[in-house]
Amino acid sequence: MSENQRLLVKNAKQVVLICRNGEKFLNKDGMKSLSVIENGSVVIGRDGLIKAVGPAETISAQYPESSCDHVIDATDMCVLPGLVDAHTHPVWAGDRVHEFAMKLAGASYMDVHRAGGGIHFTVEHTRAAAASELLDALTRRLQRMLRAGTTLVECKSGYGLELQTEVKMLEVIEAARRSLPINISSTYCGAHAVPKGRTEAEATADVLQVQLPRLKELMSAGTLQVDNIDVFCERGVFGLSSTHRILQAGRDMGLNINFHGDELHPMNSAQVSSGGGAGEHLFLLTSDAVCQLGAELGALAISHLEEVTDEGIVAMATAKTAAILLPTTAYILRLPQPRARDMLDAGVIVALGSDFNPNAFCCSMVRTETSQRPPPPGPHLHPPPLPQPIVMHLACVNMRMSMSEALAAATINAAYALGRAHTHGSLEVSKHGDLLVLNCSRWEHLIYQLGGHQEILRYVVIKGNIVHDNDKTMQM
Ligand code: NIG
Ligand code: FE
Repeated sequence: MSENQRLLVKNAKQVVLICRNGEKFLNKDGMKSLSVIENGSVVIGRDGLIKAVGPAETISAQYPESSCDHVIDATDMCVLPGLVDAHTHPVWAGDRVHEFAMKLAGASYMDVHRAGGGIHFTVEHTRAAAASELLDALTRRLQRMLRAGTTLVECKSGYGLELQTEVKMLEVIEAARRSLPINISSTYCGAHAVPKGRTEAEATADVLQVQLPRLKELMSAGTLQVDNIDVFCERGVFGLSSTHRILQAGRDMGLNINFHGDELHPMNSAQVSSGGGAGEHLFLLTSDAVCQLGAELGALAISHLEEVTDEGIVAMATAKTAAILLPTTAYILRLPQPRARDMLDAGVIVALGSDFNPNAFCCSMVRTETSQRPPPPGPHLHPPPLPQPIVMHLACVNMRMSMSEALAAATINAAYALGRAHTHGSLEVSKHGDLLVLNCSRWEHLIYQLGGHQEILRYVVIKGNIVHDNDKTMQM
C-alpha cells in the first residue's frame, strides 16, 4: 500500500468542482452551470495535490479513513475550491479614512489624486515605512483574506514609484509568500502613478531604464519572484504609448501582463500619450485602444473596465484576455457598473477581484459582517452605513451576474487571469488541494447570505492543511 494521504473530506452534501475537464477558463454557457457532485468526498495527498474527488461511496471504497492522516466529516456541509482574488494592492502604510469622507462629500477619485492625495498620500507613507512594518500589516491583511476564504491572491507593488520602495514592497510580498500558507501571485506596478515633481515621460524612463533592469537582476538571482506587470493606464496617469512600452518591456522579461484600464475614461485615439519620446508608438485606433493594446501584447488580463466600449469587449473576447471586474471600486467611487452582462454575452472571460487598497478597503471575496444592500447611486442619496466586503454578492446584485457566474469568476477565471488555471481554481485531480468547507446545505449560501460569513465558513484548507478552523459556525 502506498503512503498515507494528507486529508480526506468525506460525505459532503455538495462538492462544487467548478469544472471537470481541465478547462482553463469558463465563459458563456460554461459559467451558467457548474460541475457539482451531490454527496461527495475529496482526497488530498501529502504532496498537497488532489488525489481523488467523486461520489462518497466510490471514494470510501478506494481510500479508507485509516489511510488518511486527517479526516473532515462534511456531512450536511458543502465543499468548494478556495477563492481566488485576482486584484489587490495590500502593501501600504497609512490608511485613507479621511479621504472616504471627502469622496462621500462629492470629491471624485481624480480630484483627490490631483490634490496630492490618493495614491500620492499612500506613496509618502509607504516610502517612509520600514519593511518590517509593511510585512506585519501585509501578514494581518492576508490572514484576514484567508479567513474569508481566499486561498490565492494577487498582490501588487505600486506605492513606491521609485526603485528603492518598489523593491522593498516586492521583497515584502516575497517574504509573505515564503512564510504564509496563502498562495501569492506577485505583480510589479511601478507605473501606478506619475510621482510628484516628475513628468509622465520621466516616470516612464525611470521604469524602463532603472526599475525594470534591477528587477530583472533580482529575479535572475532568485531573490525575487515576480509574476506579473501592471500599469495604471488612465488619462492624467500613464497614456497608451507609455503603457505599451512598459508592458512590452515587462513581457520581454517573462512577466504576465495584467493592467488597469478603462477605469475612469475610455482611452481612445484622441488621448494618444505624449510621454514616449523618440520611437513613440502612436495608437490611431478608432476606439478602446486599451483593449486593443492588451490584445496586441497578449495580456492575460485587464482590470476595472468600467468604461469599456463595444469594440473593447470584442477585442478582449477574441484575444482571450480576461476582464477582472472589481465591484467594490465601482460601488465606493460611484462609478458606472462594469458591463458584466455584455462581456459575458460576448464570451469574455470574466474574473473578479476585491481591489483591496486604501481607497477600496475590502479584503474579502465574500461578504463579512452584517451589512445592508446599498441604494442605487444618485446625487441626492446619503451614503448608507459602510457595508462590509461583498465582492461576489455585489457582482450579482449590481452587475447582474448569476451566482454560478460569480463563483466561476472568483475561482477558475481568476486563476486564469493569474496564469494559474492549471493548478488552481477548481477541484480536479492533480490540482492544489485548496478548498473551503461551508456549514450550509447549498453552496449558494456563500453569496446569498448578507453578513456573518464567520457563521458559514467552517474550514479553509490549503494544500491539504487546515489553515483556518472555525468551530463557532452555526446553521440557521
Ligand atoms: O485599482 N486605480 C488605480 N489603482 C487602484 C487604487 C489605488 C489607490 O487609490 O491607492 C485601484 O482602484
Ligand atoms: Fe487596482
